[in-house]
Amino acid sequence: MLPVFVVVLGCGSETIPSQAETPKIDAIESIDSQSVEMMISVTQETRQLYQRYCAQCHGVKGKGDGINALYLVVPPRDHTKSDYLETRTDQQLFNAIKLGGLAVGRAPCMPAWEHTFEDKIIHTLVNYIRELCNCKTL
Ligand code: HEC
Repeated sequence: MLPVFVVVLGCGSETIPSQAETPKIDAIESIDSQSVEMMISVTQETRQLYQRYCAQCHGVKGKGDGINALYLVVPPRDHTKSDYLETRTDQQLFNAIKLGGLAVGRAPCMPAWEHTFEDKIIHTLVNYIRELCNCKTL
């Protein structure tokens, strides 16, 4: 509970969803797929999760201009900016989403999602960000 509280204060935003109370979402658990690739491919559901959990900061189109962005000390990352995202590996993006900004040497305003999403979902979100920037790690 406490770390979430600190993050909220540190970012001057009151609208971060309370992750401690949110049940884990494992939306694609039901897909009976043999291939891991399939499991982590971007679906309509991925897009919806992004809109629901990420867009308030990162923007509806991922451009870092969400409604909360104004209130954050550090601007949310623009997920369409390929020249930055090309310098990050998928693993780095995964860690940033799972463990939060602070854990990867970035601003604490980027919340940790490990209590909200299963790893599979986080992988799909990384792939969705790769779609938004239309880029891969160089
Ligand atoms: C409360 C606002 C907020 C929410 C909600 C949020 N982010 Fe962020 N995010 C940030 C901020 C601020 C940064 C920039 C951190 C920095 O540059 O130091 C960031 C950075 C990132 C980064 C880049 C990390 C890096 O290497 O620079 C990724 C990837 C990311 N967010 C993904 C997501 C995803 C996926 C979601 C939804 C599940 C999400 N974020 C929800 C605020 C938010």
